[in-house]
Amino acid sequence: MAGFSLLSAAARRLEGKVALITGGASGIGESTARLFSKHGAKVVIADVQDDLGRSVCKELNPSSTTFVHCDVTNEKDVENAVNRATAKYGKLDIMFNNVGIVEAAKPNILHNDKAEFEKILGVNLVGVFLGTKHAARVMMGARRGTIINTASVCSVIGGAATHAYTSSKHGVEGLTKNTAVELGQYGIRVNCVSPFVVKTPLVAKFFKLDDGSVVEVYSNLKGAELKAEDVAEAVLYLGSDESKYVSGHNLVIDGGYTIVNPRFCMFEQS
Ligand SMILES: NC(=O)c1ccc[n+]([C@@H]2O[C@H](COP(=O)([O-])OP(=O)(O)OC[C@H]3O[C@@H](n4cnc5c(N)ncnc54)[C@H](O)[C@@H]3O)[C@@H](O)[C@H]2O)c1
Repeated sequence: MAGFSLLSAAARRLEGKVALITGGASGIGESTARLFSKHGAKVVIADVQDDLGRSVCKELNPSSTTFVHCDVTNEKDVENAVNRATAKYGKLDIMFNNVGIVEAAKPNILHNDKAEFEKILGVNLVGVFLGTKHAARVMMGARRGTIINTASVCSVIGGAATHAYTSSKHGVEGLTKNTAVELGQYGIRVNCVSPFVVKTPLVAKFFKLDDGSVVEVYSNLKGAELKAEDVAEAVLYLGSDESKYVSGHNLVIDGGYTIVNPRFCMFEQS
């Protein structure tokens, strides 16, 4: 079956685990659903794109993959998604709060609209809060679990995206740290991943790439291109027991983009 596991039992790093992935119908979430499934996890995809989400589940192993309609800004939907995961598979080990949206770039702050600012914060930050809250509700009782949030390089730098998006992603990092401190006493780890540019539908929308043309991305690491699968590998690490002592961490996946200001770099760049 396409996308299903060919790994040996010993190589499967999430065998027996149950994961809920928001935004799992596309991009980074979809890649993570595929990788988690390959590593033996039961996966629940929660998304607003029902047809796409169902088709990803169908391609993976239908007996261990489920789709649930969920708008992450709606607390009832998030509560229901967590309840569906536990009802169907008996527990929740991994919560991946991955949904995020971006709005069009603006010439300056005067063009920023309050309703649009609140919409971005509502999806990107409040959505992560609701996912964390409802995952914690079941994980606290089990006294174990791992919560992973998708932030962005915009969680650690300014100027790379809009005010709303940057604010939301700084917020995701703050929420990750705060909840890691609280939930550690229940054995729950909370971390976030912060990718640089990955060519997903979100990026195509932001850069208006309707013809599929290439975005020029300059990182510190030459010759490598960040793919959704690379982000999924980082999420796999944070979801697996191999990261059992990692909590409150922001795993930046940017080829060194955020560690250098190229204008002050003392090393010759070819
Ligand atoms: N692609 C990048 O370059 C990049 C870089 C840094 C961070 N990120 C972050 O990665 C995450 C995933 O983005 P992506 O690039 O894979 O985008 P994507 O658009 O491919 O996927 C996002 C998914 O979220 C779903 N979604 C949107 N709003 C929703 C809502 N209210 N409720 C439930 N589902 C909803 C969409 O239907 C879609 O399936 C986002 O948080 C984004 O901010 C992306």
